[in-house]
Amino acid sequence: MKTPGLSHREAVSSRMAVHETDPVDGKVLRNVCGLFVTGVTVITSGVGDAADGTTVNSFTSVSLDPPMVLFCLHKESRLRPVVQETGAYAVNFLAGQHERLARAFAARETAPIHTVASHPSVTGVPVLSEALAFLSCRLVDEFEGGDHVVFLAEVVELGVLRQNREPLIFFRGALGALEDEPMAGHPIWDG
Ligand SMILES: Cc1cc2nc3c(=O)[nH]c(=O)nc-3n(C[C@H](O)[C@H](O)[C@H](O)COP(=O)(O)O)c2cc1C
Repeated sequence: MKTPGLSHREAVSSRMAVHETDPVDGKVLRNVCGLFVTGVTVITSGVGDAADGTTVNSFTSVSLDPPMVLFCLHKESRLRPVVQETGAYAVNFLAGQHERLARAFAARETAPIHTVASHPSVTGVPVLSEALAFLSCRLVDEFEGGDHVVFLAEVVELGVLRQNREPLIFFRGALGALEDEPMAGHPIWDG
């Protein structure tokens, strides 16, 4: 609704703690996007000694038929050539107890993939055994997106842990578990 007597800029500025128009600052954008709560994943790729992983919250599902997902990876990431050479990756959904795991895989040095329990998925890419769910995917396409690359992939295998675990949450730059489980059981399986 338009506020009488105020320009758009005045109307917005009076309500907003932060307000920017083009050019938008990247760090401010990151902080604002941090107000959009997400889960946390570790993307694994590579087979055998080449296996590696990195912590990512830019995962999203794209299509059900065919089943497709994507995530965005920084162009300088050490995982980028691994995903490109392997042509596959796995998305591991972290549980509330995995904050240290998330931080370990967010480090710049080689991730501790061989110190974490894992098993190979159908693509050969390791899946973290403690992840609350995983999607194993074959790469379909990649797109340049500024300083990131978007990796689009088809889901060829998935799994959910038997134990119902709460997810790890990323909000305002902080990692943490949900205090209360939002829903009991697995409602996605009810139809
Ligand atoms: C909660 C969280 C979410 C992240 N999400 C992403 C992401 O979506 N894409 C990305 O490129 N980096 C993301 N990062 C940063 C990478 O984990 C980190 O930059 C990276 O592991 C550093 O080394 P690398 O980029 O060479 O793998 C995230 C980090 C954290 C802690």
